[in-house]
Amino acid sequence: MISVGIIGGSGYTGRKLVEYCNIHPEISDYTVYGHNSSGKHLSDLFPEFDNIIQNNEISSIDLLGEHDLYFIALPHGEALNFVPQLISAGKKVIDIGGDYRLDSKEEYELWYGKKHTSPDLLKSKVYGLADYQRQDYSTTNLIANPGCYPTATLLGLLPFIDSFSEEILTVSTVAYSGTSGAGKTPKQELMLSEMDGNVSAYNLNNHRHQPEIIQMMNIFGFDSPYSFSTHLLPIAVGIYATTSIHLNRAVSQEDILRKYKSFYSESPFVRLRNIPPQLKWVVGTNFCDINISIKDKILIITSAIDNLIKGASGQAIQNMNLLLGLDETMGLLNKGVKNVPNY
Ligand SMILES: NC(=O)c1ccc[n+]([C@@H]2O[C@H](COP(=O)([O-])OP(=O)(O)OC[C@H]3O[C@@H](n4cnc5c(N)ncnc54)[C@H](OP(=O)(O)O)[C@@H]3O)[C@@H](O)[C@H]2O)c1
Repeated sequence: MISVGIIGGSGYTGRKLVEYCNIHPEISDYTVYGHNSSGKHLSDLFPEFDNIIQNNEISSIDLLGEHDLYFIALPHGEALNFVPQLISAGKKVIDIGGDYRLDSKEEYELWYGKKHTSPDLLKSKVYGLADYQRQDYSTTNLIANPGCYPTATLLGLLPFIDSFSEEILTVSTVAYSGTSGAGKTPKQELMLSEMDGNVSAYNLNNHRHQPEIIQMMNIFGFDSPYSFSTHLLPIAVGIYATTSIHLNRAVSQEDILRKYKSFYSESPFVRLRNIPPQLKWVVGTNFCDINISIKDKILIITSAIDNLIKGASGQAIQNMNLLLGLDETMGLLNKGVKNVPNY
C-alpha cells in the first residue's frame, strides 16, 4: 500500500485523480494540495464528493507532507518548483503538466517561454505514453505524463510509423478538444455565450503539443513534414484527432490492421474500431478508440479519448500502476468511475 500526494488536486485533472485515488486498492491514503483553495474542503469545490471521498481537506501546496508518490497537476512551470526536491528525496513523481515531456531544455524554453531549472531530469524521466507498453519504468522515479492531444494523436499514429515510415510523404493532424482542456481558470473565449454553436481553430502552427508529438515520432524514424491544427469544440470533455497520411505507394488495409493488432496486443485500454470512433464511446473512461481507413495512397486515422482521463489522470494512474509493478488496469475499470461527472 502507498501514500499519495495530489499537488493541484483542486483543479480539473486533480479532481479526477482524487476520484481514482479514493477507490484505488493499493492507495492507503492521499492528501490533496491546493494553491488558492488550500484550507477549504474539497466538497466545497466539488459538492458531488460529499460522503464519498476519504479526505476532504485541501492542504497548502507550501507544506507538503511525506508520501511515497506524488501526482503533480499544476499549470506549466510550477512543477519545476517541486519535482527536483521530491526526486532527490527518493519519491516517485508523475507530472501531468508539460514541464518534463520534452527531452531538450532548448525546445522547452522555446515552446514554454520559461527557463528549465532541472534539465538533467528531462533526460532521466520516462515519457509515460502508457499504452505504448515498451518503456522501461524501472529506470526512473519521474514519469512525464503525455499531453491530451499527443496521447490521442500518437496512439493513432505510432503503429503505422513503426512499420511504414519509408512509405510516408506527409502527415497532418486536425484535432478537436472540449473546453475542460484549458483548465478551470475563467476565460472569456470559453464562456458558454462565446462557445455555444461555435467552433474555432486556435494556436495554429504554435501549439505546445506539436513538438511533443514530433519528438515521439522521430524516435520511430519519422522525418517527413507534419502539420498539427487544433480546434475548440462547444463541449466540456473529449479529444478527437483525425490524422491524414499521404503515402508514396498503396498499402493494404489488412496489412495495416495486422500491424495495429500486434502493436496493441498487450494494451487493454486501446480499442481498434471498424468504424470511426465517437467521443461518446470514450468519455468517462481510460480508453482510446482508434479506426484506420485507407484508399489508394491516403490513410486516415481517427482516435478519440477523454482528455481528463486518458489524456491526463487515468493515464497517470495507469502510469502509477506500471511504475509500481501493479496490474496496469488496477482502479481504472471500476464502473463507479466511468459514470461520474467529468469536469
Ligand atoms: N485539462 C486537461 O484536459 C489536461 C490534460 C492533460 C494535461 N493537463 C495539464 O495538467 C495540468 C493541470 O491542468 P488542469 O486542467 O487540471 O488545471 P486547472 O483546472 O486550472 O487546475 C490547476 C491546479 O493548479 C493549482 N494552481 C494554480 N495556479 C497555481 C500556482 N501559481 N501555483 C501553484 N498551484 C497553482 C490550482 O490550485 P487552486 O485551485 O487551489 O488555486 C489547481 O489545483 C496543466 O499543466 C495542464 O496543462 C491538463
